[in-house]
Amino acid sequence: MKPGTVLVGMLEPFNAEGLQRLAAANLTAFALEAAPRTTRAQSMDVLSSQANIAGYKAVIMAADKYQKFFPMLMTAAGTVKAARVVILGVGVAGLQAIATAKRLGAVIEASDVRPSVKEQIESLGGKFIDVPYETAEEKEAAEGVGGYARPMPPSWLERQKVEVAKRVAQADVVISTALIPGRAAPVLITEDMVKSMKPGSVIIDMAAGKGAPNPDGSVGGNCPLTEADRTVQKHGVTIVGETNLATLVGADASALYARNVLDFLKLLLPPAAKGEPPASFRIDMEDDIVAACLMAHEGAVTRK
Ligand code: NAI
Repeated sequence: MKPGTVLVGMLEPFNAEGLQRLAAANLTAFALEAAPRTTRAQSMDVLSSQANIAGYKAVIMAADKYQKFFPMLMTAAGTVKAARVVILGVGVAGLQAIATAKRLGAVIEASDVRPSVKEQIESLGGKFIDVPYETAEEKEAAEGVGGYARPMPPSWLERQKVEVAKRVAQADVVISTALIPGRAAPVLITEDMVKSMKPGSVIIDMAAGKGAPNPDGSVGGNCPLTEADRTVQKHGVTIVGETNLATLVGADASALYARNVLDFLKLLLPPAAKGEPPASFRIDMEDDIVAACLMAHEGAVTRK
């Protein structure tokens, strides 16, 4: 690309090496993932627009892989029990997954570190897996930062593991979405938990490819057995490691993404008032969204 070109997209703000390369190429680069989670930035929020789609598709994919019904059915040929779906991580993707699984008639339980999601889960018809905080440190960590999760103390994670393990053993489908910006995704489904699941159960690991490296160098997701961009069978359980679920709903993913980009461009190229000539390109560092998204400019990494 020509030096000075303006690049807007999903550029991985936590990928320091990538940002160095953008700066070295003398690009003016804006990573939309870095936009603050504020009301004004909502229409430019690429993480939300794509995670919403991915959460929906994760459920559709789980229903497709699962060899039984989601809804409870009473038929002349017998009664079918409703599928039990466990959702781990209830951000944008998790909430959409709960809503979609509910529409299909599943029974849903969900876990998150942030206590504020309890009401959201319940309003969508799911049950919150409560892991009470026992220390001030646990409570403070759970409040997160900027709406995002922070790593939780090991004491809380241990208790969460016990509660989640009980639900996972009874689950037909587990959809995991837990992420912590700039860090490896937490392990929430251990190999022992996978072994405890019923044969034919399905895990959709939306953190695929973002987990901590395994001892053999492979990278899983919220489950270390996940393989990025592959569907594998482990201990009788189907584990889906699709890393870009939104592309599988491509038309709507593109339409919503295009709207995000258009609204961001309006900050760089303000629309002209009636009868006025169009304003020229500008980088307004007083604008918190522009400042937060600017990753590289004039040969330097400018990430805040
Ligand atoms: P994300 O994709 O970063 O993470 C997914 C979920 O995983 C989060 O809910 C997080 O709390 C959870 N998680 C992390 N570690 C976990 C663990 N050990 N166990 C269980 N769950 C764990 O989150 P996303 O979807 O980007 O949402 C982040 C926040 O931003 C939310 O609070 C959301 O409500 C907020 N938000 C605000 C917007 C606005 O006001 N404009 C727009 C979109 C989201």
